[in-house]
Amino acid sequence: MSRYIVGITGASGSIYAVRLVEELLKYGHEVHLVITDNGRKVMAYETGLDGGQILQKTGGISRRSGIYDNSDLFAPIASGSFKTDGMVVIPCSMATLGEIASGSSKNLLGRAADVCIKEKRKLVLVPRETPLSSLHLRNMLTLSEAGVLIFPAMPAFYHRPSSVGEMVDFIVGRVLDSLGVKNELYKEWDGGS
Ligand SMILES: Cc1cc2nc3c(=O)[nH]c(=O)nc-3n(C[C@H](O)[C@H](O)[C@H](O)COP(=O)(O)O)c2cc1C
Repeated sequence: MSRYIVGITGASGSIYAVRLVEELLKYGHEVHLVITDNGRKVMAYETGLDGGQILQKTGGISRRSGIYDNSDLFAPIASGSFKTDGMVVIPCSMATLGEIASGSSKNLLGRAADVCIKEKRKLVLVPRETPLSSLHLRNMLTLSEAGVLIFPAMPAFYHRPSSVGEMVDFIVGRVLDSLGVKNELYKEWDGGS
């Protein structure tokens, strides 16, 4: 089983994070969660969940999985010596995306992302904003050139989703694929037959 860091920010789409954590835990992976202040507020507004409850709700409170305060730079995930198999920031606000692109590491989420970049570990950002300004696009290019996978929350329609849940699962399934995590959240394109 693998160990992942999940960062949640104040972009719209907290439901993506809830589903991602549920799936990682379902397959027995270790989840280390960090949520920004606005991430908690937007999650409460959009899903009715408190950020602190997300691991409980998904049955993830264990000796190994945990949630950290975003101001706690003493947390294990702040250090490169704490080995992980990667990190996903989902949803990722333009504010956090810009912060990671600058390498400023001012809070735990930014520091954990910076560690992934410097240690050449998998870092997947799932931005959600529209339209995108040239500043957003430049930050994304900077990150992409540093080896970060930019994975916009852009659901497809060719699988003919019949619910919001299916659209969410399509994105989460593709994000899990990018980490190499087995999942059955969506049906692979088979040529339209
Ligand atoms: C309801 C709500 C929805 C928001 N949606 C987005 C969004 O989709 N994308 C984005 O970049 N910012 C969005 N924001 C603004 C961010 O929350 C804001 O920039 C904040 O400073 C992000 O901080 P964080 O990255 O530390 O969570 C939203 C704010 C609110 C209140």
